[in-house]
Amino acid sequence: MKMERQAMKGKGLNLGLQLIATVLVLCFCYTCEVAEGKSQQTTKKTYIVHMDMSKMAETYEDHLQWYDSSLKSVSESADMLYTYSSIIHGFSTRLTQEEAELLEKQSGILSVLPEMIYKLHTTHSPEFLGLGSSDSVVPASASSSEVIVGVLDTGVWPEIKSFDDTGLGPVPSTWKGTCEAGKNFNSSSCNRKLIGAQYFSKGYEAAFGPIDETMESKSPRDDDGHGTHTATTAAGSVVSGASLFGYAFGTARGMAPQARVAAYKVCWLGGCFSSDILAGMEKAVADGVNVISMSIGGGISDYNRDTVAIGAFRAVAQGILVSCSAGNSGPSPGSLTNVAPWITTVGAGTLDRDFPAYVSLGNGKNYSGISLYSGKPLSDSLVPLVYAGNVSNSTSGNLCMTGTLVPSQVAGKIVICDRGSNSRVQKGLVVKDSGALGMILANTELYGEELVADAHVLPTSTVGQRAADAIKNYAFTDPKPTATIASGGTKLGVEPSPVLAAFSSRGPNLVTPEVLKPDLIAPGVNILAGWTGAAGPSGLTRDTRHVSFNIISGTSMSCPHVSGLAALIKGAHQDWSAAAIKSALMTTAYATYKNGENILDVATGQPSTPFDFGAGHVNPMAALDPGLVYDASVDDYLSFFCALNYTAADIKQITNEDFTCDSSKKYSLGDLNYPSFSVPLETASGKGGGAGVTSTVKYTRTLTNVGAPATYKLSMTSKTQSVKISVEPESLSFAKENEKKSYTVTFTATSMPSGTSSFAHLEWSDGKHVVGSPIAFSWT
Ligand SMILES: *[C@@H]1O[C@H](CO)[C@@H](O)[C@H](O)[C@H]1NC(C)=O
Ligand SMILES: *[C@@H]1O[C@H](CO)[C@@H](O)[C@H](O)[C@H]1NC(C)=O
Ligand SMILES: *[C@@H]1O[C@H](CO)[C@@H](O)[C@H](O)[C@H]1NC(C)=O
Ligand SMILES: *[C@@H]1O[C@H](CO)[C@@H](O)[C@H](O)[C@H]1NC(C)=O
Ligand SMILES: *[C@@H]1O[C@H](CO)[C@@H](O)[C@H](O)[C@H]1NC(C)=O
Repeated sequence: MKMERQAMKGKGLNLGLQLIATVLVLCFCYTCEVAEGKSQQTTKKTYIVHMDMSKMAETYEDHLQWYDSSLKSVSESADMLYTYSSIIHGFSTRLTQEEAELLEKQSGILSVLPEMIYKLHTTHSPEFLGLGSSDSVVPASASSSEVIVGVLDTGVWPEIKSFDDTGLGPVPSTWKGTCEAGKNFNSSSCNRKLIGAQYFSKGYEAAFGPIDETMESKSPRDDDGHGTHTATTAAGSVVSGASLFGYAFGTARGMAPQARVAAYKVCWLGGCFSSDILAGMEKAVADGVNVISMSIGGGISDYNRDTVAIGAFRAVAQGILVSCSAGNSGPSPGSLTNVAPWITTVGAGTLDRDFPAYVSLGNGKNYSGISLYSGKPLSDSLVPLVYAGNVSNSTSGNLCMTGTLVPSQVAGKIVICDRGSNSRVQKGLVVKDSGALGMILANTELYGEELVADAHVLPTSTVGQRAADAIKNYAFTDPKPTATIASGGTKLGVEPSPVLAAFSSRGPNLVTPEVLKPDLIAPGVNILAGWTGAAGPSGLTRDTRHVSFNIISGTSMSCPHVSGLAALIKGAHQDWSAAAIKSALMTTAYATYKNGENILDVATGQPSTPFDFGAGHVNPMAALDPGLVYDASVDDYLSFFCALNYTAADIKQITNEDFTCDSSKKYSLGDLNYPSFSVPLETASGKGGGAGVTSTVKYTRTLTNVGAPATYKLSMTSKTQSVKISVEPESLSFAKENEKKSYTVTFTATSMPSGTSSFAHLEWSDGKHVVGSPIAFSWT
């Protein structure tokens, strides 16, 4: 967990990726790094072998015997790590690439997928979301405490107050999971809040060797902090007087404080391995969770070769909502992961809360940055200021990498370090070790004005690019530059808010451009939630500070906000499908401020678009009563696979079902009953779209009434002259609950626009509810 965003650049598409081992990012905590691995012919690697049960010969007594005989036919020595029996039928094992290729050619084998390694991707957010700081707004009900959120992450630290179960009734009778004992973890570590905790390490240990128990616990215990943070963000209990060193002081609570938490530890120091993730997802589904929260994502591939997408499909088919982080690879376009349409893909925005740290210069100028430093402050008097690039014997000295600063030139000074490469807190440690008094962490162009707060080990202010350039200019031109840094505590009411985080991964969706992603955004910048007792707030090995709460950023943090809100909606509407809950969250989201302007993008300072925020920012109170929903069942996804031209074998890899597309039927990607619209159009250079040539596409949607009888009227706003939009019919009357009505939108492209994308917004309203959908056009 060392490198910043640059490391994530240049990660290409791996569509149709076969037996190439590629290590992928799955972590969406914003300090993580990506590594790439290369396959070797002779060494063994883990593969997930997906078997077609319908092809099992009758001569076998049971499926295990069949799996074993298939495996032994290519490798005498290989053992099964896991056998899978619900999400997929099959097993994971260690094979050479050659053996894997041989096995995949055998009859009865659907696929042999190489292991992927996924790297790891509040006090105030409930009020910001209009949920209030207590339970007064959403009253606790018996049903809200029946909902179970399964969190696949780095485990949990059960002793913190956020897992206090005071006031909760017995564990829901639907719960079938366990509290697995292991190193530093007893079966009694669970309670009525944390109802289950399990760990999955076979894939990790097969690749890395036995877990080093001096470094991490072979048990559900969280030695990292990430898993405790995400679990308590989703469904932590109410804790008053929470803060990190006094920062963000207030009442901390998860989004669904009545819901129960089940932790599935699938991520280890070496990453999150897909064979373990699949085992964890299977267990979560079997245990009876209602929501799966996964702040891990990977590279993207076709859905039938993407373990997380396959696992999520089976969960969604059983009514479990799966919420995943969109990724931290923004602001580059097309940087999303977890894009399967049955997954709820969550980007990140800011809260209206800031932790200012002021930089005062010898020239009298004063700049505002951000920091969570908590130790002894610098004195008010000015001290010498240097740019790291000028006091280093390394060409990359400006980045404050370990061992690059010359102590005699930095001792007693404030050092300006450029952001990038190593982690932000690591830079602070390097600066402190070289004898400096403080650090100014300077955003470069890549990071713009995005300010991410960290619990630094010395007085620090992280400043945006504009301030950074001004401070550097002063340091370069003044013969005796000086500065000091002062903390401004916690500031609330920051405007505008939310703004889109620069790191939040962006569309368009490179796998299926007809599906708009991300789906929505939620708070993911400087979020306070529970923390592990095994690591300090900076995550640095040498950070010996202990905290019960920590403030961190990433789409890892926004994902569990949505997971918890989904649990809240599930509690209020127990019969709703995963697609209905997701629709409620999306159609009620907001994309504009009160002045009508779109949510700003901190990366550019300009308004962001649906390719950045999807349907917009979550609005939980409205989502509890959406009026209408775009529901979707397994049949809808089957038609979607047919529109993708998937073969019966491809479809079986995802659904575990035999299904053949009807060759006489015309399937269209635009007809997936999705709560948003993405319409790729061809440019003059593309086929059939020459200048002046009109092309027309039709998307059909079906709305289900989940409110009282009402008539909904259409309204449409469009920002493009290049596409004519017509909707038929323009009024939908629902006489009873659960009634369904369909409509068709016809998009007629009449000319080429000046840019490559444009947007419109469609709304159905009965005067009480507004059911909104973004429309994104792209010309390719
Ligand atoms: C587990 O139980 C044992 C015996 O009661 C106790 O000594 C130990 O402290 C417990 N460990 C944890 C992590 O709760
Ligand atoms: C710098 O500006 C901030 C905010 O305007 C203010 O609170 C702080 O006192 C100023 N510091 C100095 C040294 O002027
Ligand atoms: C310090 O570094 C900057 C940027 O690399 C450079 O422009 C400047 O000349 C350097 N100053 C000194 C004194 O070396
Ligand atoms: C840079 O200088 C420091 C201190 O003089 C020294 O310890 C270090 O080895 C040098 N590093 C390089 C890369 O030359
Ligand atoms: C599926 O095949 C049809 C017919 O060959 C083609 O027109 C269509 O573009 C294909 N769809 C996709 C998503 O590849």
